[in-house]
Amino acid sequence: MRQNNFIYTFKYDTHNSELCKLESRQLFGEQEQNNFLFSNVAIDPSISPFIKSRFEINLSSDNYDDLLDLVRQEAIHKDGFKAEYLVLNGDDTKYQDRLSKLKDIGYCIEGDPDYTNPSIIYSICRYNGQWHFGLLEKHDSDWFKHKNKPCSFSSAINMDIAKTLVSIATKGDKSKNILDAGCGVGTVMLEACVSGFEVEGVDIHWKACVATRKNLAHYNYDANVIRTDLKDLNNCYDSAIIDLPYNLYTHSDDISTLNMIASAAKLAKRLVIVSTADIKKQITESDLEIIDFCTVGKKGKKFERNIWVCEKYD
Ligand SMILES: C[S@@+](CC[C@H](N)C(=O)[O-])C[C@H]1O[C@@H](n2cnc3c(N)ncnc32)[C@H](O)[C@@H]1O
Repeated sequence: MRQNNFIYTFKYDTHNSELCKLESRQLFGEQEQNNFLFSNVAIDPSISPFIKSRFEINLSSDNYDDLLDLVRQEAIHKDGFKAEYLVLNGDDTKYQDRLSKLKDIGYCIEGDPDYTNPSIIYSICRYNGQWHFGLLEKHDSDWFKHKNKPCSFSSAINMDIAKTLVSIATKGDKSKNILDAGCGVGTVMLEACVSGFEVEGVDIHWKACVATRKNLAHYNYDANVIRTDLKDLNNCYDSAIIDLPYNLYTHSDDISTLNMIASAAKLAKRLVIVSTADIKKQITESDLEIIDFCTVGKKGKKFERNIWVCEKYD
């Protein structure tokens, strides 16, 4: 039987459901269901806007008292710890019972607890009659600060979509470098930087480059922004993200779309492309294979974006 090392929990609004499932397929090779997922893949939960926490399973038992014995046998001594009960969908353990179980766990661990600023969180959860004990890593919401970036414009992509584009493009591998092709005001770059990815941005418009540099500097991020037409760039990247012009404030037509996609395909093996139009034809003409796709709506609006995950044929 397959042994899973981690349980991931998810939270997302309905309009982001398809995007979350696309990200889950690309990161874990399978879709989350009921807002959680058992997996062997180790992903930093903070790279995704939808992953709430990562529970690393250390000990398991179908008997609760046996699980406590197993925890005691570990002879854990840790100052600054906190214990939390992770409620998975389907676990009907009542609140008071959960509290008393937390106390049980706390008494199995030696050291002074810290409830406000813990250095480590031990956790228990129950799924399908099995009790699990392990380490809980929570999503760090530090990236919310980007809401107040100094420069913005109406064609900028939502922060949560930008964050997902980065995780999909890299599959969560922090050794991968990314190109933000047509960086606008740098929404994608900010999300790459806060998660520790190496990223470079390019835009044909000098005003966009100035705005992106200003935004990056505001948060003390160190990333290069190049002002050029994408077709004239010669660097190499593991992946490229293209948020195509929507033809609202920036010009777009089939030829310029094809030029952007074909140019990016020369620079990176893996591309994640955002479009409002159907661009299957331009993707195929750029010798790329579409490996995954979804449509994402805007909360309360009719506006829809297509997200295309593409790779170069070998
Ligand atoms: C939809 S906007 C990107 C918005 C960006 N993701 C953000 O959130 O700020 C598309 C960008 O592509 C840029 N662009 C269009 N054609 C380009 C080209 N040939 N080379 C480089 N950038 C280009 C535009 O100047 C524009 O800033």
